[in-house]
Amino acid sequence: MNTEFLTITQDPSHDEDVLSRAAEVIRRGGLVAIPTETVYGLAGSALLPDSAAKIYAAKGRPADNPLIVHVSKPEEAERVAYTNPQFYKLAERFMPGPLTVILKKRDCIPDTVTAGGDTVAVRCPSHPIARRLIELSGHPLAAPSANRSGSPSPTTAAHVREDLDGEIDMIVDAGPCSIGLESTVIRLDGESCTILRPGAVTPAMLEEVVPHAAVSGAVVKPALANGVKPESPGMKYRHYAPRAELILVDAPTDRLAEFVRENEGERVGVMIPDEYAGLFPGLTILPTGPAGDWKEYSRRFFSLLREADDAGLNRIYAVLPPPEGDSLALYNRIIRAAGCRILTENGFKTI
Ligand code: TXA
Ligand code: MG
Repeated sequence: MNTEFLTITQDPSHDEDVLSRAAEVIRRGGLVAIPTETVYGLAGSALLPDSAAKIYAAKGRPADNPLIVHVSKPEEAERVAYTNPQFYKLAERFMPGPLTVILKKRDCIPDTVTAGGDTVAVRCPSHPIARRLIELSGHPLAAPSANRSGSPSPTTAAHVREDLDGEIDMIVDAGPCSIGLESTVIRLDGESCTILRPGAVTPAMLEEVVPHAAVSGAVVKPALANGVKPESPGMKYRHYAPRAELILVDAPTDRLAEFVRENEGERVGVMIPDEYAGLFPGLTILPTGPAGDWKEYSRRFFSLLREADDAGLNRIYAVLPPPEGDSLALYNRIIRAAGCRILTENGFKTI
């Protein structure tokens, strides 16, 4: 298949013709990679069973992992799911934006979208291009991240092209994503909620609206959540992963150099805040922004993993971020990218 690559601005009114063509591709059952504020999504109609099947095939995604359905405004959730007052309370504060809510699905959503389940994940993105495309197509859009399954999520259209060129109809390039990690996914539990995947909407932000936002055990302890003993080989749990080996070190940043020292002569990179770059002469620096700026690190993270591969690195070292607050989402992605192994003073341990 010849994949059309179209570059536009972030203002949909400048490029209605391109977006109308993309909408037409969606309506006739094709796939279009589109920008959202989190990561690029691989969009197809959420109403056509074949579109979802094509999404799984293009990504090489296991068919038991359900897709998120994107709507152009919160009220449109009615069309695809059974909502409740709690949903609208959250929507008022966080939508459009990087929050996905699991709801009971309506019959119009095919089983292929929900992997056979009776719930559907609903998200209203804030990116103007994504929203306009949903409006123009007249279909809610099923859209997972637009990467090959297992590789780092795409935060630019060039990343999408690396993974999916020749597999999908169209890629719409409207520049890099502003958040860089995927949306927060929550399940509603009465008045409260449980975070199934952390994102830019943090537990503390959710608790401005709901009494309690619990964090699912799987978020920070993936090996245990898979029902496997923690000492099992971590490679099984590698997601979002670069080809290079990512080694996460549980130590303060200024001590990272001691762990890296043995690697002289190897093609090694360090993912490190800007002000520490001078501690690693001769190594490839993958700069994460100012120390403590988790939003900037999150924005760059997936892109840095791809840069490491482009640079032909064998190994990347990074410091384990705290599993809380503004770095919870980054923690969740980075431990998976590292195969859930952490290097401590006493060697590797699996989490
Ligand atoms: O930011 C995002 O959410 C991006 C952009 C494109 O919107 N999309 C995204 O989709 O990250 P994907 O498919 O890569 O991740 C969807 C996540 C998966 O962890 C999936 O298991 C979960 O949402 N999910 C989807 N439907 C679900 C459901 N019905 N119940 C529980 N989890 C669900
Ligand atoms: Mg994904």
